[in-house]
Amino acid sequence: MKKIAIVLICGFLLLNLLSRAEASPIKRCDKTTKICRIFTHETLWDGYKLFRSNCKSCHYRGNKKHAKFLYTESKVRKGWNRVFDEKYTRCAKDGSWGKLTKEQLARINDYLFKNAADTYDPYDATDCG
Ligand code: HEC
Repeated sequence: MKKIAIVLICGFLLLNLLSRAEASPIKRCDKTTKICRIFTHETLWDGYKLFRSNCKSCHYRGNKKHAKFLYTESKVRKGWNRVFDEKYTRCAKDGSWGKLTKEQLARINDYLFKNAADTYDPYDATDCG
């Protein structure tokens, strides 16, 4: 009887672990610079502000610039990395990112990567607030 209880408890704990969202990342390895960037509150906050003041000047909801509404969860982590690694988007090609330095783009990438789709983890303290 005791054994069954233990097996049940272990099974429950395992299931619980597996069903949890992937924990939020605390670093991102940049393909182009080959540097792993550790997030700090400052760089993420800067990335957030840069995203809002640059990217969101076009990609806001209901805009008339034919730019899709974008927010952190529009893409998964790999998807955001691809946007910045390959710079395949129309805006990256037409010079709309021109004002931004490499470091600023990397910070925007960090912020979007950190908060990408499927990364929110209610059990992770860094995801609170
Ligand atoms: C001057 C306006 C403008 C700015 C600024 C701008 N974009 Fe765009 N972006 C566009 C337009 C127009 C398209 C093409 C239509 C579309 O796919 O949304 C586009 C396309 C994209 C796409 C492809 C959409 C998709 O899901 O496939 C992504 C991703 C993107 N932009 C990200 C960004 C990021 C990140 C920034 C800031 C670094 C940014 N954009 C800044 C106008 C802009």
